[in-house]
Amino acid sequence: MEIRKMTIADYDGVYALWMSCRNMGFNDVDDSREGIERFLRRNPETVFIAVEDGEVEGVILGGHDGRRGFIHHMAVREKCRRTGLGTKLLDTCLEAMKREQISKVALLVFKYNEAGNAFWEAQGFTVREDLNYRNKALRELVRIDT
Ligand SMILES: CC(C)(COP(=O)(O)OP(=O)(O)OC[C@H]1O[C@@H](n2cnc3c(N)ncnc32)[C@H](O)[C@@H]1OP(=O)(O)O)[C@@H](O)C(=O)NCCC(=O)NCCS
Repeated sequence: MEIRKMTIADYDGVYALWMSCRNMGFNDVDDSREGIERFLRRNPETVFIAVEDGEVEGVILGGHDGRRGFIHHMAVREKCRRTGLGTKLLDTCLEAMKREQISKVALLVFKYNEAGNAFWEAQGFTVREDLNYRNKALRELVRIDT
């Protein structure tokens, strides 16, 4: 299994992997080819995929704003789970974040995503009970919940 940086040429394989996973949240703008291309342009050093025999088997979209890191849409193909691939992808991404001087990384995961929460807990990502997550849409987005 090779772990390497994602380019926009990998988009179709990555999107197909995302759509094969349950309990994830996408939308028609940020996760379109154009949206992911924009993300990759802004975060060229922190987005990684795992590839075997030409198939995308894992992905992690890491990015940052110069202060905090954020992880989006991490996924590992079902047949490859519980083999440590998620941990390898995450470690690769976190090392890249450190090289960019990022000292704290956050993410969102649906409360009902048991496997996702178990994974993040095992990786030391704690739940902040003292904060409310707030956001506001600046344009209309169509949700794509898997
Ligand atoms: C979450 C996900 C990326 C984990 O990938 P993975 O390759 O299976 O992760 P790892 O093999 O590195 O697991 C590391 C540890 O996390 C924990 N863990 C992972 N999946 C788990 C599960 N289903 N149940 C309980 N613990 C789990 C375990 O402690 C595991 O160590 P162990 O296998 O030695 O017990 C994968 O389950 C996935 O793609 N899920 C669907 C997409 C998703 O929910 N993404 C997260 C949204 S933010």
